Amino acid sequence: MSTTDQRVAVVTGAARGIGAATAVRLAAEGRAVAVIDLDEAACKDTVEKITAAGGKAIAVGADVSDEAQVEAAIARVVAELGAPTILVNNAGVLRDNLLFKMSTSDWDTVLNVHLRGSFLMSKAVQKHMVDAGFGRIVNLSSSSALGNRGQANYSAAKAGLQGFTKTLAIELGKFGITANAVAPGFIATDMTAATAARVGMGFEEFKAAAATQIPVARVGEPDDIANAIAFFTGEAAGFVSGQVLYVAGGPLD
Ligand SMILES: NC(=O)c1ccc[n+]([C@@H]2O[C@H](COP(=O)([O-])OP(=O)(O)OC[C@H]3O[C@@H](n4cnc5c(N)ncnc54)[C@H](O)[C@@H]3O)[C@@H](O)[C@H]2O)c1
Repeated sequence: MSTTDQRVAVVTGAARGIGAATAVRLAAEGRAVAVIDLDEAACKDTVEKITAAGGKAIAVGADVSDEAQVEAAIARVVAELGAPTILVNNAGVLRDNLLFKMSTSDWDTVLNVHLRGSFLMSKAVQKHMVDAGFGRIVNLSSSSALGNRGQANYSAAKAGLQGFTKTLAIELGKFGITANAVAPGFIATDMTAATAARVGMGFEEFKAAAATQIPVARVGEPDDIANAIAFFTGEAAGFVSGQVLYVAGGPLD
């Protein structure tokens, strides 16, 4: 591949956390990156980090659960960077509560952002991948897919993403497109900091408690996940598809 046909990657929820680390990592590997998040202005830091390092990136504001916004976002990516052939469905939210207290709207919000959002984005991007005869889709699942107290909505969405991933792998493989899921364990981000605050613990204390349950004796960092995503999106990973990789500092099943 010459520099004139630099691959274009779309990373959702890339204003911060795992998405931001992934956008920076993919740019460092030579991809032009569309940094997508709810608020375009919030993507500025990620874009500046990439461009300061000599990479190419644009900020795009879009709610991944809104079909019209997804279509408009991908149209902008095509116009400003070129046709995307790498997609990382990372945007996510938590609305934790025990089942008997979980509102229908909190159920819908979580299912819509994770599942509907990944569906809409994958559908919008796959046609460009099919045209190119190449594509890499990575969906963010979670260790919570295995079940987690207080997360009926989130665990259903994250388990759903595993089935979605395997189906995309089966349907799209013949077009040179792979689909895989990365399922993180505890990663230190604003999302886990918010969980610490919700349960009334300081973040450092919360991370230390989590680390005692993790075989490698530390919590994960966004770069730990970006590293796994970089593998799945790599040119050489074309025979790895439909897999779920738990990146959790130890085995999970
Ligand atoms: N942090 C963890 O321990 C952990 C563990 C397992 C899985 N994950 C998953 O990894 C992904 C990233 O998590 P994080 O910890 O970096 O979270 P985060 O809260 O730090 O970042 C999530 C980003 O997604 C964006 N976002 C939310 N709703 C959106 C929407 N509708 N459209 C576009 N963008 C939207 C947010 O604005 C935010 O910038 C999520 O899918 C999350 O469920 C995280």
